[in-house]
Amino acid sequence: MKKTEIVFATNNLHKLKEVQQAVGNKIILLSLKDINFKGEIPETQDTIEGNSKQKVEYIFERYNIPCFADDTGLIIDSLNGEPGVYSARYAGEACSFKDNCDKVLRNLAKKKDRKARFKTVISFMDQHGIKTFEGVVEGTILEEYKGSDGFGYDPIFKPVGYNETFAEMTTELKNEISHRGLAVKKLLLFLESYLP
Ligand code: IMP
Repeated sequence: MKKTEIVFATNNLHKLKEVQQAVGNKIILLSLKDINFKGEIPETQDTIEGNSKQKVEYIFERYNIPCFADDTGLIIDSLNGEPGVYSARYAGEACSFKDNCDKVLRNLAKKKDRKARFKTVISFMDQHGIKTFEGVVEGTILEEYKGSDGFGYDPIFKPVGYNETFAEMTTELKNEISHRGLAVKKLLLFLESYLP
């Protein structure tokens, strides 16, 4: 059986493995390392969609292999959508996940409205152009950390309809309901029709 190769424009091996498992064995996902890309992909747009598209265009134009890229942000209503597109570096350039969570908790200290959502946009590009797939999960920001699994803002984010934060959930449950999980499901449906 001939296998289709698609680039996932990431060096995050955890994400690569997760998505490879989901796409099955008809598609081989190549990481940036696999295609020998060593630089930094620019992420200079002011929206999550914009950065996701910028990443995929940058790689497709250079390698001409079907490619997808993802970008995610945490959007908090009473902080005017912050940290949003700046989620990775909300507390500064070399900040830790804890620095970012602490900054969110500080900024929300006097706010009643703690509604938030995670949004992921996956952009896929081939010779026919770009398609985007979005996943959103609604939730609230707690007043303190709960749970130790996961990463990023997981210990302070409780999705609607659940009594646990993302950091208290199994990876399976998180993937089932999360922003990235939902966007990946849409990508997979598209990839099925994309295969020969
Ligand atoms: P990226 O675009 O996937 O690299 O995500 C940007 C930032 O959003 C990350 O550095 C994390 O701080 C945060 N983030 C992304 N996905 C998640 C998640 O599933 N849980 C918690 N935080 C996340």
